[in-house]
Amino acid sequence: AEQTHIRNFSIIAHVDHGKTTLSDRLLEVTQTLSSREMRAQTLDAMDLEREKGITIKMHPVRLEYTAKDGQQYALHMIDCPGHVDFSYEVSRSLQACEGALLIVDASQGIEAQTLANVYLALENNLEIIPILNKIDLPGAEVERVSEEVEHVLGLPREEIILASGKEGTGVPEILEAIVARIPPPRGKNEAPARALIFDSQYNAYKGVIAYIRVVDGTIRTGDKLRLMGTDVLTEAMEIGFFRPGMVAGQALSAGEVGYIATGLKSVRDCQVGDTITLIDNAATESLAPYEPAKPMVFAGLYPVDSGDYTLLRDALDKLRLNDAALSFEPETSAALGFGFRAGFLGLLHMEIVQERLEREYNIDLLITAPSVEYQVLTNAGEILIIDNPSELPDVGMIDQIEEPMMAISIIVPTRYIGVVMELVTGKRGVFQSMDYLDKERVVLKYEIPLSEIVVDFYDSLKSRTQGYASLDYHLSSYRASDLVKLDVLVNGTPVDALSMITHRDNAYRQGRQLVEKLQKLIPRQMFEVPIQAAVGSRVIARETIRAMRKDVLSKCYGGDISRKRKLLEKQKEGKKRMKMVGNVEIPQDAFMAVLKLD
Ligand code: GTP
Repeated sequence: AEQTHIRNFSIIAHVDHGKTTLSDRLLEVTQTLSSREMRAQTLDAMDLEREKGITIKMHPVRLEYTAKDGQQYALHMIDCPGHVDFSYEVSRSLQACEGALLIVDASQGIEAQTLANVYLALENNLEIIPILNKIDLPGAEVERVSEEVEHVLGLPREEIILASGKEGTGVPEILEAIVARIPPPRGKNEAPARALIFDSQYNAYKGVIAYIRVVDGTIRTGDKLRLMGTDVLTEAMEIGFFRPGMVAGQALSAGEVGYIATGLKSVRDCQVGDTITLIDNAATESLAPYEPAKPMVFAGLYPVDSGDYTLLRDALDKLRLNDAALSFEPETSAALGFGFRAGFLGLLHMEIVQERLEREYNIDLLITAPSVEYQVLTNAGEILIIDNPSELPDVGMIDQIEEPMMAISIIVPTRYIGVVMELVTGKRGVFQSMDYLDKERVVLKYEIPLSEIVVDFYDSLKSRTQGYASLDYHLSSYRASDLVKLDVLVNGTPVDALSMITHRDNAYRQGRQLVEKLQKLIPRQMFEVPIQAAVGSRVIARETIRAMRKDVLSKCYGGDISRKRKLLEKQKEGKKRMKMVGNVEIPQDAFMAVLKLD
């Protein structure tokens, strides 16, 4: 299409404000899909996405729309992930657009990710079309939320479109506004080709499929390609559009969004943020500075059955073909044997990888508690990057330890300011600022160590504010802290997989809690098992698991065979997640106990 008849836009919103539902309406009204093909939330195609009701991967689609002016337009729509773990993808997809539909739930108002996404859109100079969604709800507060949009975001009230993705209200107005308000792309048709990769997928038949926005020039089927960031050479085996399935065509030219099948074997070669150009007539400058996604949270992955090690390695290799943000390397644990250290964007990402490994590859996994990445300056002047607590050098060799700090913003009704302050300060958060959104709601900003918010923080925040708080965060800096390693000894043997790095002030309390938890979680053995927590060579807490003769069946008083069988099966089930460490059986729960400390 001519650039004057192209519009590229993203849909941005806080989680659950209704992006996916509204995109479905747009697909329906433009007859991109017939109603026979429509299922609720068509764009959330992965099973996991359906189950969790969240968008994990981005889904671009090309809509053909005949506007009121009688002209036909190609609208390229990119639905973005809402969860903050995937904000990296949001920012890349915004770079591929000239405009954004900003969806705000009319019964909720502006939330933390609404703000974060608006800032991202403004940084990218996007034209923002504000939409108040879910106006069909009895609890919709159109007046209050319009005022918020106007005052907090600075978007004029006259520009707000009232909509209901559920009932289809406002959808025709949205389509007209896209054509009228979002500027067309202004690429150079004759310049050397440049296309931004904003996502990639691995396809067993076509290799890596790069999702691209062509900025300048034209890329045709069969063209020889160069990826400017990774310097990988390949060929455009197939080129086409998303409708929303892949439909092959001949070429993509300036302004258009579509895909290239590259034949590459791993998404690592074709990462989000890289620029594609042609080998002949190559562009000299790439489109955006190229930074691969940065893992923030690390954990050990071990097969429960050590015979599954190769299976796990192959499964991780396959997953990585499709998930450029997943990183892993072999790791050995004295306690758990051979496994892998994997890096994730956040806990949700970790959960998804874990579930996919177990479901799609049928591997029983043992996962150690997640850790963040520390920068350790040694006496010798070396800087070590430590993402596994057990690898921290001896205290005597450490000059200083720096930990990642996050800038977080929390939006809450004013009546919860007190409880939020208490929670955040308890987690070593440092207050930055407080601003009123309106009379009843504030934005609180803090700096807080990532290690303190990786687990549980969001849940505590939600429960203490009865669900009213919303949270957004990003990495701000590394800062020196008084951190120590807390070791756990089971039956006199240090269990490396249970080590954690914590602030000195919390070490005693957490050590105490940890041994108490472990005492309950580790089943009784035939002999007495002491559990100790230690900092350096100093034991700071101890509990003992008393010896017991393990005889489950004695509870059955003979007789009932089916009940006996059930018990045996249950015991077997429990065994699956057990790992022999020295001569003590430790269940999966125990490795996660570290997470549940206050
Ligand atoms: P994420 O992908 O997780 O970011 O969510 P989303 O923003 O795509 O929201 P989604 O479309 O999945 O909708 C979230 C919930 O709101 C679902 O239960 C929808 O049925 C409901 N919902 C969406 N739009 C409307 C609407 O216009 N009216 C009403 N009443 N409910 C809606």
